[in-house]
Amino acid sequence: MNKIRSYIKGVGHNVPDRVVTNDELSKLMDTTDQWIVERTGIKERRFADEGVGPSDLAIPAVENALQDANLSKDDIDLIIFATISSDYYIPGAGCILQDKMGFGNIGAFDIKTSCAGFIYGISMADQYIKSGTFDNILLVCSEVQSTTMDLSDRGRNTAVIFGDGAGAIVLSSTTEDRGILSTHLHSDGKNVKELWLKEPSTKSSNRLSKESIERGDHFLFMNGREVFRHAVKRFPETINESLEFNGLTSEDIDLLVPHQANLRISDMIQKKMGLPDNKVFNNIQKYGNTTAASIPICLSEAKKEGRINNNDLVVCAAFGAGFLWGSTVIKW
Ligand code: ACO
Repeated sequence: MNKIRSYIKGVGHNVPDRVVTNDELSKLMDTTDQWIVERTGIKERRFADEGVGPSDLAIPAVENALQDANLSKDDIDLIIFATISSDYYIPGAGCILQDKMGFGNIGAFDIKTSCAGFIYGISMADQYIKSGTFDNILLVCSEVQSTTMDLSDRGRNTAVIFGDGAGAIVLSSTTEDRGILSTHLHSDGKNVKELWLKEPSTKSSNRLSKESIERGDHFLFMNGREVFRHAVKRFPETINESLEFNGLTSEDIDLLVPHQANLRISDMIQKKMGLPDNKVFNNIQKYGNTTAASIPICLSEAKKEGRINNNDLVVCAAFGAGFLWGSTVIKW
């Protein structure tokens, strides 16, 4: 009997309606459309309305993914929710989504692996399916980062980069020769303070003090240069290790989907991998960096645009806070 593999049976995405242009940001902080486009490639991003959390943004993405997979909620065995911007500090967004969408009492848990959330999530889901534990797993990646941005001059190097959005996939079992061929995961916690959101912290009995709010410790902090330096090294490294693992080369790639960190980072990866424009998918121009959600949003758009077809070799790679990074090779 052929061994069990997992494959992406359905994919969907959802972004908030509210478009925030670079010009709009330049009214809030000392920046310009030209600076943002030159340094990041971003022209606009989406911000969720007040009161909308990642679990809310996820609902239409999940509905689209279920429809694409031709499955109903009752077919789903497990929810994995990748986010670093969960609706509440406690509990995770997975069980909130379970209730809001009326799933049965299936398992639901969050993973907090920043921009690498999709890669870590698919790696876990793949293991559950390959072991025969579950047949259909919902991997949801959803973020509301706009409320963690310091939209003043002090936060301008970070605030111009991030946006809100959600992507979801249904990973299902198959005995066909397709699906997730490999996943590779990495971390280096030496760099925690290069990209972090320090407060509220359980290390302080105050959780969030007047002083820490004045310092802006409750906003996402990023040392852009350090992040950039590590990202352009780690992306090609992990793409190459996954190609090598599968006995493939970059010429075998039909579509590379890098986490949408910064268009300059994507361009450098493309150059290092020697890939033509039509083999790399980017949409950061429209959405900014949506952290864990960026890869499934790309996969959903790429599929709708006919840029991913059955049997295509799709490589996804991500790098983010931690630092955490990794890659997956998928025969679609
Ligand atoms: N508008 C105008 N000027 C700005 C802005 C802004 N929004 N932000 C910073 N500047 C200024 C700085 O103050 C500095 O001015 P100075 O020279 O007078 O001191 C100058 O621009 C250069 O600042 P740097 O921070 O050195 O700018 P850099 O060229 O490194 O670009 C950027 C900043 C875009 C953040 C870049 O470092 C970068 O892209 N890093 C990677 C970040 C990234 O991709 N993060 C996401 C990946 S990780 C994840 O996804 C979680």
